[in-house]
Amino acid sequence: MKAQLKTRVTEMLGIEYPIIQGCMQWISRAQLVGAVSAVGGLGILSSSSCYTAEELRAEIKKVREITDKPFAVNITLLPASFVPDYDGYIRVCIEENVKIIETAGRIPKEDMIAKIKGAGIIWIHKCTIVKHALKAQTAGCDMVVADGFECAGHPGENDIGTMVLTPSFVEALNIPVITAGGIGTGRQMAAALMLGAEGVYMGTRFLLTEECPVLDKVKDHLAEHATEMDTVLLLRTYVNTTRAYKSKVAVSVLEREKAGLEFADIAGDMSGKKACEMFFENGDIDNCGTICSGQTVGLINKVIPVREAIESIMKECIETLGKFSV
Ligand SMILES: Cc1cc2nc3c(=O)[nH]c(=O)nc-3n(C[C@H](O)[C@H](O)[C@H](O)COP(=O)(O)O)c2cc1C
Repeated sequence: MKAQLKTRVTEMLGIEYPIIQGCMQWISRAQLVGAVSAVGGLGILSSSSCYTAEELRAEIKKVREITDKPFAVNITLLPASFVPDYDGYIRVCIEENVKIIETAGRIPKEDMIAKIKGAGIIWIHKCTIVKHALKAQTAGCDMVVADGFECAGHPGENDIGTMVLTPSFVEALNIPVITAGGIGTGRQMAAALMLGAEGVYMGTRFLLTEECPVLDKVKDHLAEHATEMDTVLLLRTYVNTTRAYKSKVAVSVLEREKAGLEFADIAGDMSGKKACEMFFENGDIDNCGTICSGQTVGLINKVIPVREAIESIMKECIETLGKFSV
């Protein structure tokens, strides 16, 4: 029998499992997004992997060739190595009848919110402190992702771990809360639900799946070698903190940052161009670009198909919840 867990998140998004694949720049393109949604989770397309709005339109169409189930488009409002066409992305989402948009990085300006809400699109916002979640709720956000300090990518500058962040969001808000940051197993999912979350959101776990388009060499290396100790916080000096795998190049970036160098001196190593070369062409983790990775990488020891990841997490979550019925 299929494991089932109904929450406001599954109901509002029209998905089978309260499991969401986190947006990953350059990586969460149609192949991975379609695979996650087809299995019954929610895949999230990364708009900032698309240099133009028309490129995003093509990715949306590709997802629809894989599945007719719901998926979302992420709009990341953070400094980028190219100028993202935010207005174009939103226009294309509306034209292509995308039903769910996730924003991240900062709360969108009023006109962007008005366009999203005006089109009847469900708006999810990902943030790292209660103050921002409350602001999003007041602005009409439908559900929030609480992204704890353990997360891959941008944990913000306040370092609130998932264990405190999730219940803080739940107590402060009326809208559903989804836990991100450090989730990679069913036991962790059960813990998030116990804390009041109505869904979980995972980046690192889905990075290490077969359908993730990154070279096997990179994925296998992380699964086999990375422990919970193997991430570092980069770019804190520039108030744009990013958690990444502790590769040689990441350590070198950190050292240059600590030595007081300007961002321009490390920008090359942090660029999307270098990351894409490593992810898709040479697999040279130590010398070419950095990899966003969460601490949960230490709990993930195998690259597995998306279906196996989702179904095994669901099974373990439900078994774990069952252990504590008193
Ligand atoms: C390789 C990679 C790239 C990411 N890129 C983005 C991004 O472009 N926008 C975004 O909002 N989050 C991005 N994230 C963060 C994830 O969406 C998610 O918040 C995070 O991975 C959750 O923590 P976890 O890795 O512990 O599951 C990225 C994560 C990874 C692993």
